[in-house]
Amino acid sequence: MSNKIILTGDRPTGCLHLGHYVGSLISRVNLQHQYKQFVMIADWQALTDNSENPEKVRNNVIEVALDYLAVGIDPKLTTIFIQSQVTELAELTLYYLNLVTMARLGRNPTVKSEMQQKGYANNNTPAGFYMYPISQAADITAFMANVVPVGEDQLPVIEQTNEIVRKFNSIYGPTLIEAQALLAKTSRLPGLDGKAKMSKSLNNAIFLSDSQDELKRKIMSMYTDSQHLKISDKGKIEGNMVFTYLDAFDSDKAEVAKLKEHYAAGGLGDVKLKNYLFEVLNNILTPIRNKRLELAQNINDVYAVLFNGSAQAKEVAQQTLENVRNAIGINYAKNK
Ligand code: TRP
Repeated sequence: MSNKIILTGDRPTGCLHLGHYVGSLISRVNLQHQYKQFVMIADWQALTDNSENPEKVRNNVIEVALDYLAVGIDPKLTTIFIQSQVTELAELTLYYLNLVTMARLGRNPTVKSEMQQKGYANNNTPAGFYMYPISQAADITAFMANVVPVGEDQLPVIEQTNEIVRKFNSIYGPTLIEAQALLAKTSRLPGLDGKAKMSKSLNNAIFLSDSQDELKRKIMSMYTDSQHLKISDKGKIEGNMVFTYLDAFDSDKAEVAKLKEHYAAGGLGDVKLKNYLFEVLNNILTPIRNKRLELAQNINDVYAVLFNGSAQAKEVAQQTLENVRNAIGINYAKNK
């Protein structure tokens, strides 16, 4: 067990999918044995571009919590909490806002590309969305996190966090610590269409909560090789999503190699191949799906996990906030 602290999290804008599973969930299940881990459901951050859909965010808080528990993130080992329940984070954000210029915010590549995706321009971007990296700096520093596991797209946010830490410490004295990004080992999983990474908004995702029928239907719709029309045709492996997924999920590498050879030579049909992938994925997803259904029957227990975790997280954040107030010199009662 290391004494390092990990903080990570997700915006609750939808159920979690296989991209999350290989990109972050498996690693969280492993990391919780080595580190003190905090996993945050970032509902405030989700609201930055969903202010008119609070019920979407609210509903997905519990969906994401179910996904976490179903894959084996264990509340005895990991503090799972809801961002909005730790209001100290908002106060920290307020102090950090003064340490970042508008120009610096505008240069953050993560925010820039998300603005593009969401169709925001400079004059209609919600201010809260524009500054979410600062609020994320509050999330990370509040827990004195040393390690932040993220996807590549979030690296600039960690960089900006550390700039804030250095600026804060240089003005107010050593108070906060810098965090190190831990890049996900698995490169991003493409979606069913093979065109872009798996994401809810692109409608190309397999969710952990999908039923067996949905899983089957989605696999049957997967992109393979548009030239592979007859079973006897030679097929392409490159860019064929069924093989991409087999590489990512099938532990029987020898069998995958055999299937690739057969498909490339001709004589292996898409439906047969897809049925094989269905078996592989269904074996992984069935225990998760069953656990999720079981947990969903006692939703109050899931809320209890979140409330407990949030209370624990609040205690830690309170201490950091106290240090920050002392450093800035606005803990007036102390100076009486
Ligand atoms: N920005 C992350 C996402 O896109 C969610 C998040 C919010 C987060 N605060 C964080 C991740 C702090 C790591 C650390 O889903």
